[in-house]
Amino acid sequence: MRVCLCNDLSAEAVEGALVAGASRVAEVFRGHGCAPVCGRCIEAIRTMLDRAREDEEE
Ligand code: FES
Repeated sequence: MRVCLCNDLSAEAVEGALVAGASRVAEVFRGHGCAPVCGRCIEAIRTMLDRAREDEEE
């Protein structure tokens, strides 16, 4: 599944950035050498970050 169409980032790519230590949306983009374009994916990435954080806390 593509999370970011502008930068062709898959859910797996975003999850990989989270595993690598990204804790902010900007770090997910930076980790893949890109930046937000339209911004439509930011909420989805933020939700993935929140879920990863919750999983860590459990
Ligand atoms: S879909 Fe991610 S910046 Fe446009």
